[in-house]
Amino acid sequence: MHFGLRGVNGLILAAGLAIAAGTALLAQTAPEMGWLPNHPATRAEDYAGAAACGSCHPAQSKRQAASEMGMSITRPAEARVLAEHPAMSFERGKYTYTLRKDAGQVTFTASDGHDTITEPVYAVVGPGSVFQAYLIQHKGEFHRAPVDFFTALGKLGPDPDADAAMPATLETALGKHLSADDVRGCFSCHSPATVIGDKFDIAGRTPGIGCEVCHGPGAKHVAAMHAGKKQDAAIFNPAHMAPGLQSDFCDQCHESAAKMKAESPHGVRSVVSPAYRLQASRCFLASDKRSSCSACHDPHAPMELKSVAYDTKCLACHTVRGGAAARADQAGKSCPVGTSDCAGCHMPKVTVPNLAVLFTDHRIRIAAAGAPFPE
Ligand code: HEC
Ligand code: HEC
Ligand code: HEC
Ligand code: HEC
Ligand code: HEC
Ligand code: HEC
Ligand code: HEC
Repeated sequence: MHFGLRGVNGLILAAGLAIAAGTALLAQTAPEMGWLPNHPATRAEDYAGAAACGSCHPAQSKRQAASEMGMSITRPAEARVLAEHPAMSFERGKYTYTLRKDAGQVTFTASDGHDTITEPVYAVVGPGSVFQAYLIQHKGEFHRAPVDFFTALGKLGPDPDADAAMPATLETALGKHLSADDVRGCFSCHSPATVIGDKFDIAGRTPGIGCEVCHGPGAKHVAAMHAGKKQDAAIFNPAHMAPGLQSDFCDQCHESAAKMKAESPHGVRSVVSPAYRLQASRCFLASDKRSSCSACHDPHAPMELKSVAYDTKCLACHTVRGGAAARADQAGKSCPVGTSDCAGCHMPKVTVPNLAVLFTDHRIRIAAAGAPFPE
């Protein structure tokens, strides 16, 4: 299975990315952005739900729900990992942790050999590209279950972010207690349109990063289109943004370039911000759409994992040695070394201390073996 490639061997016990990235909301207020994608849903009635968009936009809808972003929070009954592994356990000292799917209901059980506590799983965080986390509620408070599913291992393992000490009581064995801000943090990046005030509604609304997370509430647009009023399109389209601004848009959840600049020196950790790295590359042309995130990534489909598939993106600006002469809009030179798999050599994969995910350096460059990592 391709997902295994994305994890870093031996680093699986490292801390979860986003938790290390901090749960502080990235308060971007640039009015020119038009719409902030990590915005909570203020009024439920402004939203149409992703199903409503599909009938008129099949090209964008067909694969979006099955993309990493579409599945970045799922209802437990719909999580693919739990359908494939309906009963999983993990033992730690005297404690046994079990995730079980039974007739559409998913529960988490902690047992110390004498007593047990069982609670329904409230939300599944992450599609499981590398790992997946589970949120449960106990006595009205959120906990992150003490076990994650690690895709490369095909089984549960301890939440790397949990307290290293053995839990003293069954109650503390339920995993890290999350404050209201912590939970809002997960939801603001993984499923913002299901946040209403300080409540979460993943049962009644589109969970994960669906159409209206990036395009804003769409009920008005749907009504206008049904009424045939094309002049009232009234929906946000990031296609109209310049590359720099679009990277700020994606940045609201993918670690922000502004935050990265403020954090200097950051060393190799800066690869977690694609925008920060991309903007430092000689390939980044601030007013050229071929430099925007969506030039290389279709936000409506699972991420392309074959690096050769990105060749056409490079060759929009570069030429192939010995091939056709450069067009006027191809300012990039040709490569003296390779003719395909450009990203494979010029966008190296990088490991980051304490993070389990392997990152791609978006600072497109000549990456000579053994050369120091450029800030
Ligand atoms: C009844 C059909 C219909 C439905 C339902 C619908 N759309 Fe559209 N949408 C259209 C049409 C037609 C256009 C093109 C309007 C135009 O020509 O300016 C459009 C345009 C758009 C655009 C581009 C706007 C621009 O200014 O470039 C976006 C983005 C969009 N729709 C997103 C959505 C989303 C998200 C939903 C679900 C909430 C949705 N649409 C539901 C018919 C529909
Ligand atoms: C509302 C927050 C949010 C916004 C806005 C957002 N993303 Fe994401 N994106 C995520 C999260 C969360 C994930 C991880 C899904 C997961 O693995 O849980 C993700 C995953 C991805 C992935 C797949 C990565 C992987 O490792 O599987 C790509 C590619 C991506 N996003 C690109 C973009 C681009 C391009 C934009 C802007 C057009 C964008 N994202 C905007 C939150 C966001
Ligand atoms: C600032 C935004 C942000 C916050 C806050 C956040 N995440 Fe994430 N998370 C991301 C992004 C972006 C990714 C994907 C990274 C990538 O592939 O580049 C991700 C990835 C993950 C993954 C790995 C998914 C996979 O498929 O391997 C898990 C699990 C996860 N987050 C859980 C959480 C939990 C639990 C919380 C709250 C305690 C949280 N995240 C808070 C942005 C965030
Ligand atoms: C992660 C953010 C994200 C999500 C989620 C998302 N979109 Fe988009 N959408 C974009 C971006 C970015 C563009 C502009 C792409 C480009 O540059 O051409 C876009 C463009 C569009 C357009 C206009 C196409 C055009 O030719 O201008 C439509 C229609 C659309 N999206 C519909 C949808 C629908 C329907 C969904 C849900 C199934 C959805 N989008 C989910 C980010 C998103
Ligand atoms: C928007 C246009 C554009 C795109 C897309 C683009 N490049 Fe470039 N690239 C340039 C320009 C302009 C330069 C500077 C002139 C030169 O050295 O060719 C450059 C420079 C480079 C350099 C030399 C860097 C250095 O620091 O000396 C490499 C290597 C490179 N590009 C590879 C790639 C690869 C690989 C891709 C695809 C993943 C890509 N480029 C995509 C425009 C682009
Ligand atoms: C096998 C690895 C490899 C592949 C594949 C590869 N390159 Fe390169 N590329 C290099 C190396 C190494 C250099 C530096 C050569 C030198 O300095 O003599 C280089 C140099 C470049 C340069 C700088 C040229 C200059 O004259 O300054 C550009 C631009 C470039 N590559 C683009 C690309 C593009 C586009 C592709 C895909 C069609 C590609 N590369 C495929 C390894 C590779
Ligand atoms: C020139 C093409 C190009 C551009 C522009 C680009 N990416 Fe990527 N991106 C890639 C490639 C290639 C990969 C690695 C795909 C693979 O091999 O799995 C990647 C991987 C990713 C991943 C997965 C995590 C990782 O680091 O491997 C995320 C998230 C992502 N890109 C987000 C973005 C965002 C956000 C932007 C805009 C700031 C952006 N990308 C712009 C080519 C691009």
